[in-house]
Amino acid sequence: MASDSSGQRLAALLRTTVAAGRTGDRLPSSRELVAEYRVSPVTVRSAIAQLEREGLVVVKSGAGTFVAPPPRPRHPVDTDWQLVAMGDEPSHLTGFDQVVAGPPPGTIPLASGFLAEDLQATAEIGAALRRAMARPEAWSWVPEGLAPLRDWFAAEIDPRLTAGDVLISSGTQTALSTVFRSICPDGAPVLIESPAYIGATAAARAARLPVIAIPTDRHGIRTDLLAAPLASTGARVIYVQPAHANPHGATLSDERRAELLALARRHGAFVIEDDWARYLSFAATPSPPLITDDEDGHVLHLSSLSKPAAPGLRVGAIVARGPVARRLRRARVVDDFFVTPLLQETALQLVTSPSWPRHLRRLHAELHRRRDHLVALVRDLLGPDVLPYEPTGGMHLWLRLPDGADATEVAEAAARQGVMVNPGRPWFPSEPTGEHLRISFGGAPVEAMTAGVRVLAAALR
Ligand SMILES: Cc1ncc(COP(=O)(O)O)c(C=O)c1O
Repeated sequence: MASDSSGQRLAALLRTTVAAGRTGDRLPSSRELVAEYRVSPVTVRSAIAQLEREGLVVVKSGAGTFVAPPPRPRHPVDTDWQLVAMGDEPSHLTGFDQVVAGPPPGTIPLASGFLAEDLQATAEIGAALRRAMARPEAWSWVPEGLAPLRDWFAAEIDPRLTAGDVLISSGTQTALSTVFRSICPDGAPVLIESPAYIGATAAARAARLPVIAIPTDRHGIRTDLLAAPLASTGARVIYVQPAHANPHGATLSDERRAELLALARRHGAFVIEDDWARYLSFAATPSPPLITDDEDGHVLHLSSLSKPAAPGLRVGAIVARGPVARRLRRARVVDDFFVTPLLQETALQLVTSPSWPRHLRRLHAELHRRRDHLVALVRDLLGPDVLPYEPTGGMHLWLRLPDGADATEVAEAAARQGVMVNPGRPWFPSEPTGEHLRISFGGAPVEAMTAGVRVLAAALR
């Protein structure tokens, strides 16, 4: 008889002994069990290990095996007191649920904010991790981040920058939280493009900052609407995504880039440049980061590898110059000390390997192809007017629904048919300018898109 099944048989017999005993009773020793049940020591060890896993016995090395205390009864726990202790749910958590919840298994993920699995650089990251593990830096104390990785980000973003201008962060989300909490005086308003990335609005609200929504159009943030609130509210922080903004896809025009920076200079304001889609652009001539036009440290540039590589590669950069850099450096340490150097070293090995440009080339071609495919489906099945303009990067289409449609109802109806899309409303920091849906071409396999858009068309009808 294999010792595994004899172990199971002996465990069954010993369960009776344990059930008859009291907490703390000592079981016969291994030698006694071998003799009593005429089994091998291996069988005894396997049976005792089984009972230990079940929580029925406690093995004390050198002392023996004892009957464990009975498990704590699993009665329903009364946690209602917590609702009284916590008070109202903070408003910044409500819309953010959309980002936190992944797609339920088996659904078509047209709501995804990260790349579809087949587009992620997981094989390349695996190889980079193996190289990183051998490096002594992988476990060092690096409050600002690994110097060669900061060097790499600096050279990528603007050749005028040096490693000293760069702080490594755990992606952009945490960078937004750190920046809003550290550079805005208590209660000072921030100007946020609208619609905006939900996580940016949530981070500002979590820092208890009033948010003033500045409308956008196909050319990016409406700079003509910025001067008045800058003057009247004293706001000194403007949040924008100059390239392929999430959710609306627009890229800031050259004219508005210049106007935005002129306004920042005139009012002594910071511009937070969330450059989330830097590596997701398939434009013929991608626009350079806004910070490359900034001389005097107005632009705080945020970028991350979680979008072009994989959501779990939570390594990003904050670029800041002047006194704000020193403040953010200290604030980063208060927040979480620093990003695990093993992950930073992995990121460095990844982006400096020949496989990285290959990955990006494939990614851009694939995003382009998927955008074209989804655009064609949308125009064909939902009508020519729902997509006022096409993004040249990023991973989403921003659909404007016809008058009378309710985007939340459409999204709920689609979800009942297994197609996940984002209703537009939570993406607006204040009143929405219409009914919108955000659908992802980067997060879903091409094969699933036709079925997904057909369901949307039915839901709209
Ligand atoms: C526009 C934008 N900014 C920032 C983030 C945060 O990304 P991460 O923290 O993974 O870098 C996201 C994620 O969805 C985003 O869409």
